[in-house]
Amino acid sequence: MKHPALVYLVGAGPGDSELLTVKALRLLQTADTVIYDRLVSKDIIGLIPQGVCKLYVGKATGNHALDQSEINQLLAQLARKNRKIVRLKGGDPFIFGRGGEEALFLKKQGIPFEIVPGITAAQACSAYSGIPLTHRSVARSVQYLTGHWENNADIQVDSNTLADPKQTLVIYMGLANLSHIITKIIDAGRLPETPVAIIEKGTTAQHRQVTCSLITCVKTVQDQEIQPPSLIIIGDVVTFSHHLNWFEPETQKQESNHYAQGH
Ligand SMILES: C[S@@+](CC[C@H](N)C(=O)[O-])C[C@H]1O[C@@H](n2cnc3c(N)ncnc32)[C@H](O)[C@@H]1O
Repeated sequence: MKHPALVYLVGAGPGDSELLTVKALRLLQTADTVIYDRLVSKDIIGLIPQGVCKLYVGKATGNHALDQSEINQLLAQLARKNRKIVRLKGGDPFIFGRGGEEALFLKKQGIPFEIVPGITAAQACSAYSGIPLTHRSVARSVQYLTGHWENNADIQVDSNTLADPKQTLVIYMGLANLSHIITKIIDAGRLPETPVAIIEKGTTAQHRQVTCSLITCVKTVQDQEIQPPSLIIIGDVVTFSHHLNWFEPETQKQESNHYAQGH
């Protein structure tokens, strides 16, 4: 018989607590310990019952509460005490979330685990901004890219795929290297007028969206003082947001910081 999992790697989605899966909610309500990241929203942390131990291991660039190997050790330590652990991550654990690394570590340690997908930022931000990532005759494929490279390595993407006008590009963690990324995409052959949407704190009460073009993108981010977490969507599908943008954040719920900071 399969050994029951001790660690659940769970995606919390992008922020709106109603985007949590039923399975994720059930696990949060029955866990012994929840270990969570910075991008998990306060609303979601608020759904964890009192009595469940909550441990914040958040990661902001250059400011890690615990580094990855310490997080791995913590998971192993608690699992060996037979605790039921939810390792809660923003978005989906397997999209730029280091979920694969944690799962490989658990596998190596012989600790039984399960992986529960979450709604990734690309899916959620595009839906809440009225931007279909693919659309018949406008975009036939979509590519997720990270703007953050290990050891400052250069963006490792085939220029042909960056250039394809019928491919939507979605860039995670793109603000810090924005100017370099945009130059790379234009140099690859994308038209400078290609529409761009930047979605800040997507799906939360502080959701903010600005649209611009590749050539005006860097200046727009500076002028509008766009902050992380922000997602960048590039391609003709962005123009649909002028017609399909439906989401109005509940301004009365605004707080200075919507994301978890170790509460
Ligand atoms: C370390 S990655 C984690 C991605 C996450 N695993 C996911 O599937 O969405 C963090 C980046 O995801 C994007 N992101 C996550 N949540 C977001 C949100 N609510 N609004 C905009 N971008 C978000 C930003 O680009 C942010 O810098």
